[in-house]
Amino acid sequence: MVYKIGSISGDGIGPEIVAEARKVMDHAVAKYGHSLEYTDILMGGCSIDATGVPLTNEAIEQAIEVDAVIMGSIGGNPATSPWYQLPPDKRPEAGLLKLRKSLRLFANLRPAHLYPELRGACPLRDDIIGEGFDIMMVRELTGGLYFGKRETKPVNGVNTAIDTLSYNENEIRRVAEKAFYIAGKRRKKVTVVDKANVLDSSRLWRKVVTSVHEKYQNIELEFMLVDNAAMQLVRDPGQFDVILTENMFGDILSDEAAMIMGSLGTMPSASLNETKFGLFEPSGGSAPDIAGKGIADPIGTISSASMLLRYSLGLDKAADDIDGAIKKTLADGYRTFDLMPKEAAEKKGLKQVGTSEMGDAIVERL
Ligand code: IPM
Ligand code: MG
Repeated sequence: MVYKIGSISGDGIGPEIVAEARKVMDHAVAKYGHSLEYTDILMGGCSIDATGVPLTNEAIEQAIEVDAVIMGSIGGNPATSPWYQLPPDKRPEAGLLKLRKSLRLFANLRPAHLYPELRGACPLRDDIIGEGFDIMMVRELTGGLYFGKRETKPVNGVNTAIDTLSYNENEIRRVAEKAFYIAGKRRKKVTVVDKANVLDSSRLWRKVVTSVHEKYQNIELEFMLVDNAAMQLVRDPGQFDVILTENMFGDILSDEAAMIMGSLGTMPSASLNETKFGLFEPSGGSAPDIAGKGIADPIGTISSASMLLRYSLGLDKAADDIDGAIKKTLADGYRTFDLMPKEAAEKKGLKQVGTSEMGDAIVERL
């Protein structure tokens, strides 16, 4: 079968890592007699340069027409890039937020598990890592602070900025359903992360999640305040199974969770709506400082490709093959620079490779 895939290379290291993900996906599906037909879609800074806006309506239409979208990353260095001289709603990030909203991608899945081979790259102490960890972060993606009304204006003669954090119960319920469903296929525990000791929105989250939980009595539900959760992630990450949280807390905690995997470049993500369609991108950013050098870690994007095959196309075997090939490649000692331990003595047996060599090594092991 021929599947239609949208491809958003974006900015910075985006084009380099997406090229590797496509290469690996193409090989993985070919083994089962399938092929992928790509439509390149412009988004982010590259779209601003080409069209004046970070996401055109035509780009949204293109994304609607495909079975799934693979994406790299968007944005540049705010201190130096001219994109950040533009009004906020014309900057690269606004394109991504608009795409997520237009496609109703309310559930963002960010798995953080420790590859045993990457123990040496994990910044946590050995006794804290223990048996490792396997967390599924479920981040609400189309509500909260990132989509609330915002303005900057003088209030009583003082320049004042206002951002609005709002959630309604439907937005909470649909992502809670997803989290419980996912937990049912895993270790059957959901930790809701919030700030219910201060925020009204968090208190509504607790109420709605508790009512959704009535249908899922086989799943353990706990609530944890976000400041505590940030601390627990580096104190005892093994305690978590599914973490369910609102948009901004999920944004922040998922970077922390990615880092304890060894590197921000290693964590994939899937942004889903009620259908099988999804947008699949690494959790890390566009890393403008290393763009074009051919050294970026493509594993998060290649794992995102595996999630694409599994969630949107239902090609579980091809996805398993990619996951297995990544593990094998790491076991064989291949590492991009971000995953190399600092101490020379520990580098024994490891091969430092660039982005495309890493992709090739994974393809060879499919
Ligand atoms: C992410 C990113 C985005 C977000 C930015 C680029 C808008 O940090 O996907 O985590 O905050 O969602
Ligand atoms: Mg982020």
